[in-house]
Amino acid sequence: MPEVDVSKAKKEFYEDVPMKSPGFFLKGSGSLDWGMKNRLARIFNPKTGRTVMLAIDHGYFQGPTTGLERIDLNIVPLIPYADALMLTRGILRTTIPPASTKPIVMRASGGPSILKELSNEQIAVDIEDALRMNVCALAIQVFIGGEFETRSVHNMTRLVDMGLRYGIPVLAVTAVGKEMTRDAKYFRLACRICAELGAHFVKTYYVPEGFETMTASCPVPIVMAGGKKIPVLDALTMAYNAIQQGALGVDMGRNIFQSEAPIAMIRAVGNIVHKNMRPDEAYELYQSLKNKKKGE
Ligand code: R5P
Repeated sequence: MPEVDVSKAKKEFYEDVPMKSPGFFLKGSGSLDWGMKNRLARIFNPKTGRTVMLAIDHGYFQGPTTGLERIDLNIVPLIPYADALMLTRGILRTTIPPASTKPIVMRASGGPSILKELSNEQIAVDIEDALRMNVCALAIQVFIGGEFETRSVHNMTRLVDMGLRYGIPVLAVTAVGKEMTRDAKYFRLACRICAELGAHFVKTYYVPEGFETMTASCPVPIVMAGGKKIPVLDALTMAYNAIQQGALGVDMGRNIFQSEAPIAMIRAVGNIVHKNMRPDEAYELYQSLKNKKKGE
């Protein structure tokens, strides 16, 4: 028999205080279910509405990329400074300490290596395995204009359907073929198609002209992709511009883990994303953290 409520204190129902119906801070996510919102709120910091994702999934098509040869030695020490990790299930299971509570955005597409046509991908993770690994989102490449455009779009819509069934958001990554022009017109098209067909957030490249039109016309959050390694100040400036022009975070890989001082770099990026630090100040911070490390 259940224990009787024996307290002598008067029950308090606060009848005159209406119960709040909290909204949700993230663009385009207000109508999602609780589990989806909760997972997104682990990726995007609810205080700033932004995220610094560390992308280390490159091995899924190009093997041991420079800087990722030993994820246990080079990447695990960076984990505390990222808001979320983007990686494959193989690296998660073999190399990421299970005691880490960092949200995982799991690469869910694959197939071709750098030796073949990259757009010929398929879904590469079962939704049940994603649940077993307690992931916060699934990431999939979408090749708008690519040879296997339709297949990659269908991969994404199938993943969205599976994700919706279990409350797992989907990150669409706009992949650019060598022959495509990387301009705002192309990325507006790619990002909008991903969002219209159900992606919960989109990872795409920064362009110097018209990036704000990409963020404005995409009804879900955009996180900026890092791209190939460029000089530190240029990478910090690119992140700053993207954030000021409406990106709700960054998902950077090589510009962090191929940097001379990866911890200094991710901390500088974090200040840009969450504190609107200007690129010159962030560069100074990077230099001082880097020099401090040297002097230790
Ligand atoms: C491919 O498009 C992937 O998602 C990458 O493996 C990765 O996320 C790229 O990161 P970054 O360009 O910043 O090195």
